[in-house]
Amino acid sequence: MATNIVFHQGSVDLAERAELLQQKGITLWFTGLSASGKSTIACALEQHLLHLHKFTYRLDGDNIRFGLNKDLGFDEKSRNENIRRIGEVSKLFADSCCIALTAFISPYRADRAVARELHEKAGLPFVEVFIDAPLHVVEQRDPKGLYKKARTGEIKDFTGISAPYEAPLSPEIHIKTDEADVKESVRIITDYLSSRGFI
Ligand code: PPS
Repeated sequence: MATNIVFHQGSVDLAERAELLQQKGITLWFTGLSASGKSTIACALEQHLLHLHKFTYRLDGDNIRFGLNKDLGFDEKSRNENIRRIGEVSKLFADSCCIALTAFISPYRADRAVARELHEKAGLPFVEVFIDAPLHVVEQRDPKGLYKKARTGEIKDFTGISAPYEAPLSPEIHIKTDEADVKESVRIITDYLSSRGFI
C-alpha cells in the first residue's frame, strides 16, 4: 500500500478536454459468456467508430491476459482483480475522451458495479452492454473448443459450466446475438451513442 501520495490535478478539466478534442469519453462495458459475440461486436464497432474519426480503443479479455493481466488465472479472486484493473484502465481511457470498449466476460455483478461506480464518481459515463446468448447456443458455436474441454474437465472453472455467470439485471443495452447479427448489433449501439451525443 502506497502512503504519502497526493493526487496531482491537471490544468485542463474533463469538460475543457472534451471541448478541445470535440469528443466526450465513455466506457462501453461488454459482458457475456465466452463465444457470446463480445469481441466480434466490439471489433466491428471499433472499426465503425474509427471510420467516423472517433477516438476509440478496445480492451479485450484474451488480449489483456497476454500482457497487463498475464499474472491472473480464472479463479474468482483473479477474475475480481482482472475486472478491477480493467475498470481502472477503462476509466483512464474514458477520462482521456476516448470511447473505451471493454470485452471481458466479467461474470460477477459486484465487479461490474465497482467498475461503474469508479466511472460515475469521476463523472464519466459507463454503459453496460449485455451480449446475450443462451448457453446451448454458445456451446454449439464453441469456436475455440473450450466448452468441449470444460465439459470433459480439462479446463476447470469455466464460465457457464463450472463457474458462474451473473447476467446483468438492467443493462443499458441488451443484444441477443442469436437474433441480431453483427451489423444489427453495431447499429443498436451506434444508435444509442448518437441519441446521446457521443457520435
Ligand atoms: S473474466 O471472467 O472477465 O475474467 O474473463 P476474461 O478476461 O474476459 O477472459 C475470458 C477468455 O479467456 C479464455 N478462457 C476462459 N474463459 C472463461 N473461463 C475459463 N476458465 C477460461 N479459460 C480460458 C476464453 O478464451 C475467454 O475468451 P472469450 O472471448 O470470452 O471467449
